[in-house]
Parts: sequence; C-alpha cells; structure tokens
Amino acid sequence: MLIRRAPEIRPAEITPEPLYLGRRAFLSGLAAAGVALTLGERRALAQGLAREGLARDDDTLTPYDVVTTYNNFYEFGTGKDDPSANAKGFVTRPWKVRIEGEIAKPGDYDFDDLVRPYQQVERVYRHRCVEAWSMVVPWLGFPLKDLVARLQPTSRAKFVEFTTLLDPTRMPGQKSRLFPWPYVEGLRMDEALHPLTLMVTGLYGKPLPPQNGAPLRLVVPWKYGFKGGKSIVRIRFVETQPANTWQVIAPDEYGFYANVNPAVDHPRWSQARERRIGEFYKRPTLPFNGYADQVAGLYRGMDLARNY
Ligand code: MTE
Repeated sequence: MLIRRAPEIRPAEITPEPLYLGRRAFLSGLAAAGVALTLGERRALAQGLAREGLARDDDTLTPYDVVTTYNNFYEFGTGKDDPSANAKGFVTRPWKVRIEGEIAKPGDYDFDDLVRPYQQVERVYRHRCVEAWSMVVPWLGFPLKDLVARLQPTSRAKFVEFTTLLDPTRMPGQKSRLFPWPYVEGLRMDEALHPLTLMVTGLYGKPLPPQNGAPLRLVVPWKYGFKGGKSIVRIRFVETQPANTWQVIAPDEYGFYANVNPAVDHPRWSQARERRIGEFYKRPTLPFNGYADQVAGLYRGMDLARNY
C-alpha cells in the first residue's frame, strides 16, 4: 500500500518545523520554477509538505506554473488559459461568506475571521478532472469537518451546498448564458464531514491565486474536480439534495456524486484512463481517484453506475 495516511505517520517521521519549512521552501521553490525534481526530492517534498500526505510514490507534483495556468473557471472564460489571464486583479478582500440553513450559528462571516480558528494543513492530493486529465497539487487549507463542528448543524442538515460569487462586473464569463449562474455544488453531509474534504485557501504554500478559486474553494479528492466550487460566498446546510450546476445543465453527463470511477464512462468519453498533465502516456484512473480505502465505505450498498 503506497498511500500514506495521517495515522500511519509516526511522530519520529515528522520533520521538525524549521527543517520542514526550509526544505519545503527550497523544494517547492524548485518545483514552482518548473525544475524537475528527482524521485527522492519529490518524496521528500510530498512527505515534508504533507504530514497528512496523500500522494503516492508514483505521483509527481504538478509544477506551480501549470496548476495556475491550466484551469477550469468558467466565470473567467472557457479556455484553459482564460482564468489566469482574466482573473488578474480579481479582488478577494473584503470577502464575506454567508453561512446559513440548518445550523445553530448562521451569519455573514468575514473570510479572514472565518478561517482564523483553523490550523492550516498542507495536503498533496491527486486532482482528477472529469475531462480525463489530472494533476497532483499541494493544497493548503483546513478540513471542512472542523468548520461544520463549530456551526452546529441540526438533525435536518443532510446536505451542504456551496455557491460561488455572482458578479458579472468582476467575473466576465458570467455575462454569457452558458450556465445558470452562480455556480453551485453540493455534498452529502457524511462526505462533507469526511476528513479528506478540504476547504482550500492556498496552494504551494501560498495564498490561492484567483484562477484557482481565491479566497476559498472546496476540494474533494475522490471526486471529479467539478465538485470543487471556487470563490465561495455561501455555504448552506439543507435537508434535500442540492441541484449542482453541471447536473442541471447536463443531467445525463454529470451526476450529484461525481465520484472518480474508471468503470463508469462519461457518455462521450472513457473515464478508464487519464492524462496526467506533463506526462505523455495515459495512466489508468483509480477507483475513487486512489482514495478508495478511505472513502468507499461512504457508498456501501449504492449502485455507483446509477449514482454517478
Ligand atoms: N468552480 C466554479 N465556480 N466555476 C467553474 O467553472 N470548474 C470546476 C471546478 N470548480 C469550476 C469550479 C472544474 S470543471 C474543475 S476541473 C476544477 O474547478 C478545476 O480546478 P483548478 O482550475 O484549480 O484545477
């Protein structure tokens, strides 16, 4: 088993903080500059960056330049390089997040106040797009479950809905009628409470660039990338399953669950293999994106071909 999970990492393996920071800065600097790292360096980076590391030995970090210029963020255009070009100067302070619905503590939270209580963790996750490409990204953020615990959901809170900012003056793509804006995504409560589910505020040890969803986005590593709603302004706890944007547009193609599943093809292309950005040969896609040991239990007894 090549996947490292937090509980398996012994305290002795944890790099002391100064060394961790020094090595991290050095190696991530190299990686950010697009310098190819040796296997040993990559492993050191993965382990040093992610004490809760979830990269595999055969995973290579996708360089910073690629992670931040090959994006899907339709609010800033439909081309892969549109978001990095069109989101330049996107202002993310002040930023309010409305948290409402079936919780004891609804309210409008200032982004910085919202995230302050949480210890930021760095997690190297495989990031698999429904378009059959993938990356490996060192995200920075905190588990969504920590936020949920503080908000005290009621027993009627069965799902969590995430909504992106709606502002066509700042997000030019929203002037097109491509989507019923704003972009909405949702999770079942047990998915939201899973320790792998992250609220992300940064990558490569830096604040999240606008094209990657600043200042706050969702990352659910066993699901296709589209579940990771960007630039979130509303988190709503609800009793019924939310309608997510891609499912609303094309229900035959995109479901609510969107779990990475090589056995269930998209109607227009296979999901069996993926192109890791930067690699020539396609590699097999892993069930639940390689996180099956941790998450398959959430779906026990469900027909995953019907619930795609
Ligand atoms: N969130 C919003 N608001 N708008 C989008 O168009 N695209 C999704 C997801 N989140 C999208 C979004 C898709 S299809 C993917 S694959 C990921 O963001 C891409 O994240 P990345 O650009 O950071 O790799």
